[in-house]
Amino acid sequence: LEQMTNWDGRKLVKYQGFWFPLNYLRPLLSAQKHFKANDSDIILSTLPKSGTTWLKALVFSIANRSIYPNIDQSPLLTSNPHKLVPFIEFDLYWNEENPDLTHIPSPRIFSTHIPLNALPNCILESSECKIIYICRNPLDQFISHYYFVLQNFVSKDAAPLELDEAFDMFCRGVPGPVWEHMLAYWNAHLENPRKVLFLKYEDLKDNIGFNVKKIAEFLGFPFSLEEEEQGLIDEISRVCSFGNLKNLEVNKNGYVMDGLLKNSSYFRKGEVGDWTNYLTPAMAERMKKLMEIKFQGSGLMFNI
Ligand code: A3P
Repeated sequence: LEQMTNWDGRKLVKYQGFWFPLNYLRPLLSAQKHFKANDSDIILSTLPKSGTTWLKALVFSIANRSIYPNIDQSPLLTSNPHKLVPFIEFDLYWNEENPDLTHIPSPRIFSTHIPLNALPNCILESSECKIIYICRNPLDQFISHYYFVLQNFVSKDAAPLELDEAFDMFCRGVPGPVWEHMLAYWNAHLENPRKVLFLKYEDLKDNIGFNVKKIAEFLGFPFSLEEEEQGLIDEISRVCSFGNLKNLEVNKNGYVMDGLLKNSSYFRKGEVGDWTNYLTPAMAERMKKLMEIKFQGSGLMFNI
């Protein structure tokens, strides 16, 4: 398999059309081979730094609302969202070839960064198991990723390139290509909207209540009139908000993923358009043109 060094200094390998971190390949292959989807499974699919943490908090709250009717007792207040919703590749298959996942109560909620074409086949073949995808405008996603790497990896195994060099690689599809990742899920959503829900970070920022409702409807457990009247949608939106999660003790301290990543590094700014503080108009124009070409005719676009 083709290999190269990413802008963050770590080794990448090309597999099924995408550049993956080298150490990601073994867990990916294990998941492809052994993961068994249940019809009631909910798979949260994202590119890194696109709203994964937020989506985990929201879907966990929506799917478990009958177990924790009192939001003040939500496990989200004492656990980082990544502890409550494990990554297929980082958490489940990172250290084990074939972990037993049968004891996890349904609906099981898992997350992944795996591109659609590399997902374990059973996820796509199961008639009922649901996929929720969230993406984010690539300029903000890139900046978020760059600063996430600076926070977590620099002193360990990586020495990132300067921002403009990293951006150049990003525009050449490394890591990624991100547009292929987004397009595949977008097309799957168009083909089967009951199976794949497609969300954008910017839309959630714009109207969270509307999207909380939409997620619940998509999952097949819409909010009842009584729940709406009790203000549950607003409560869930509030508990999962950036300001609330960032300021919880549990998210200020501690680590996830075998102590590798700081909980706090998942809550940086949580804004739309932060790229304007780091990238030049010419850089933005380059990405805008690229997106126009890549997404042409698909109906997918971002307001940059
Ligand atoms: P910024 O670095 O731009 O602040 P992921 O969860 O996919 O790793 O993405 C992390 C990004 O989502 C970070 O973006 C982070 O601040 C933001 N984020 C985390 N929790 C959020 C929330 N509850 N609401 C909005 N944004 C959130």
